[in-house]
Amino acid sequence: MTQKTTDRITVDVQTATFSPTGPLTGRITVPGDKSISHRALILSALAVGKSEIRGLLEGEDVLATAAALRAMGARIEQGDALWTVHGVGVGGLMQPETAIDLGNSGTSVRLLMGLVASHDISVTFLGDASLSKRPMGRVIDPLSAMGADFTARMTTNGQACLPLTVRGLCPAVPMEYRLPVASAQVKSAILLAGLNTPGITRVIEPVPTRDHSETMLKGFGADISVETDGQNNRVISLVGEAELQPQNITVPGDPSSAAFPVVAALLVPGSEIVVENVGINATRAGLFTVLQQMGGDIRFENRRTVGGEPVADIHVKHSKLTGIDVPADIAPSMIDEFPILFIAAALAEGQTTTTGLSELRVKESDRLSQMAEGLMMLGTQVIENPDGLVITGSGGKPLAAKADAGAIKTALDHRIAMSFAIAGLVTQTGVRVDDMSPTETSFPGFTDLLAALQSESQGKAP
Ligand code: S3P
Repeated sequence: MTQKTTDRITVDVQTATFSPTGPLTGRITVPGDKSISHRALILSALAVGKSEIRGLLEGEDVLATAAALRAMGARIEQGDALWTVHGVGVGGLMQPETAIDLGNSGTSVRLLMGLVASHDISVTFLGDASLSKRPMGRVIDPLSAMGADFTARMTTNGQACLPLTVRGLCPAVPMEYRLPVASAQVKSAILLAGLNTPGITRVIEPVPTRDHSETMLKGFGADISVETDGQNNRVISLVGEAELQPQNITVPGDPSSAAFPVVAALLVPGSEIVVENVGINATRAGLFTVLQQMGGDIRFENRRTVGGEPVADIHVKHSKLTGIDVPADIAPSMIDEFPILFIAAALAEGQTTTTGLSELRVKESDRLSQMAEGLMMLGTQVIENPDGLVITGSGGKPLAAKADAGAIKTALDHRIAMSFAIAGLVTQTGVRVDDMSPTETSFPGFTDLLAALQSESQGKAP
């Protein structure tokens, strides 16, 4: 492990090489769902009394949310696989003593901005180099309309970014807001602000995004309704000044993390794996649908409901994939899965076309340019358009890194790191990834799990 120093901190950098492998086999589980974990902590912190959470993702992003909620007065205890949260009640958050650093986590900062917006407190949020580049105006605009006041660093192109300070207003003003971008983070920020706001806060969603906030708010006893209007918009209405009842929550495995072993098994000849206990909420499962359309042998077994969320074991066998045109309207249900889909496309027969993905340019990195650059280093034909990639696949032939190709740059982006780790398994000579440490944000143990699937192939069936 080496170290690199940025303007504020020194971080460990983990360079790693991922090499061609024999079949992947075995039954595995992946860590808890990141989106659901953030929401479980936040709503538990706002309930009156003690909630228990099992299966919480213990990754850096979620730990950042837990630390922030502690700094604002919630008592949160980490036991052996069980988290206990003593909530302060809606409206009960307290002024933190110092600025709150949310590391790499966009979900933490945007959801917590919403939470603070309707409390009579003032909070400064900081983040790492990646988070500090991401746009915050999309949350600042609606929350300002509810009465919160913001001071943010402005970039040269007029973008409001971290560090920023939110001064909440209590009571805030309820509002009706039509989402200009398909973003569950923006939707959730407004709903969280609405919890401590008198009257009805309404979010109109022209394009459906992940609905974990709505499901969990209902579970905690909030008065929330979801309807579809005449123009096919989702209309979410929340009655404010809610009293939330503590809950026992079980967080399912994260489909966005399962995506990596699933694609690895599809690509590596002879593989057959089962990823157990994965959330398959329709607002998250777009990747599995697209891979099936490409010819992937993916089956959902043992379907059940856990804590209001659909869950299944995902059984995957190596398959010959064919490129397709991915319809733009499926993007919100697989928005975090495009990096790994691009790797699948690089091994498919023929061309895969994606469009409508300009949002990928403002994730943890610019995922369109990082993925295009990395794939080209592996000899893949890629056209980078403003809102998508066109990839010509190898038809299953192992990728061949260019002779002068160095390490893949992950740009502080966990999903870029994991995508190229999987690509390494289906190359001629392997892939060097410059820094695997970002995987700690969402998938602690990723490299070990991959190694376990490789050693399982010494004999054990899935
Ligand atoms: C998330 C929403 C998505 C997603 C992110 C998690 C959430 O972001 O990319 O990883 O938990 O609400 P956007 O809301 O920006 O699309």
